[in-house]
Amino acid sequence: MKAILLAGGKGTRLRPLTLHTPKPIVPILERPFLHYQLDLLKQVPEIDEVILSLNYQPRRIEEIFGDGSDAGMNIRYVVEPAPLGTAGAVRYAGESLHDSVVVFNGDVLTDIDLAAVIARHRERRARATIVLTPVENPAAYGLVETDADGNIHRFLEKPKPDEITCDTINAGIYILEPDTFDRIPKDTPWSIERSFFPSLIERQETFIAVTHRGYWIDIGTPEKYMQVHRDIMDQRYRTTPFDGEPGRIVVSPKAKIEAGAILEGPCFIDDGAVVKAGARVGRHSVIGRQCHIEEHAVVEQAILWAGTRVGAEAIVRRAILGRQCHIGRNALVEDGVVLGDKSTLTDYSRL
Ligand code: GDD
Ligand code: MG
Repeated sequence: MKAILLAGGKGTRLRPLTLHTPKPIVPILERPFLHYQLDLLKQVPEIDEVILSLNYQPRRIEEIFGDGSDAGMNIRYVVEPAPLGTAGAVRYAGESLHDSVVVFNGDVLTDIDLAAVIARHRERRARATIVLTPVENPAAYGLVETDADGNIHRFLEKPKPDEITCDTINAGIYILEPDTFDRIPKDTPWSIERSFFPSLIERQETFIAVTHRGYWIDIGTPEKYMQVHRDIMDQRYRTTPFDGEPGRIVVSPKAKIEAGAILEGPCFIDDGAVVKAGARVGRHSVIGRQCHIEEHAVVEQAILWAGTRVGAEAIVRRAILGRQCHIGRNALVEDGVVLGDKSTLTDYSRL
């Protein structure tokens, strides 16, 4: 069985972070995001190959995963000549497939039991199965209405407030039968959510839903990107190295923490990072590789990508800093600030 990961979007809502790092490989605890999805797919022994459907900066992604041997999965790359939308991408990547295929949006993290979803798809002899998950506000997602037996009645992408009739949304995980792909026009941008799924309902195909009530998140906005880190550190999503004792302070043996530095758990400090005397790394912080936190600086609930430097007595709080940023001494950066790679903030600046 093959899996297609839709990983070709531009990641506009995560700009400026995604200008040089496509969304599928933004680091979560300094590990490219797709690794977490591959971990999930590996739990289904039947899945023997993952097709990465790419468009935006494909080389960057190929460089990391190669043929997949390091990640323990066969990986094949399909690069669209131009963005084909979610359905066009599935058709393009799935051209030679004949068996049921698993399709995943390349930005969702979940602890779903995928084997159970596949089993349900087969049991019901469905033409398409999608995973739903309940959320507080469906407006940013695809709203899906079902009947009591899990048959899908309505699929409405990005509903307006007065169109919201239930709390279940498309979780971006599907099992599809490739012989349905002929309804997707070739080499034309086409949406799986706005065109392909509604067409299945119109034709009264067996199109069913499986509702997942465990962990699920789309990491595609800065708020959600920060939240996924908190969720991992607080064990709402369980993964290494935070799957043991709660509130862990995880420090690489290759990091240097000077005497008199204060670390508050849970937090994560990676290889080659330096935390100077009197500096404080607060809860829910990630200090990437080779970052420097100078004397008496404070980093709290912030994510710092590799090579970033926070000057003496500066404060970085509830913010995301890209690679190799430089925050001057006594600067203040807080409350939702997102800085792209190599941003420089002069001493005493406030942002
Ligand atoms: N190859 C390829 N080509 N991939 C694409 C393209 C394309 O043209 N456009 C988008 N993608 C990929 C993105 O990289 C992402 O992994 C996935 O398709 C979904 O695109 P998003 O842009 O993240 O969509 P969304 O989050 O607004 O909405 C989608 O996901 C929600 C769940 O997170 C929809 O599927 C909603 O219905 C769903 O609720
Ligand atoms: Mg998304």
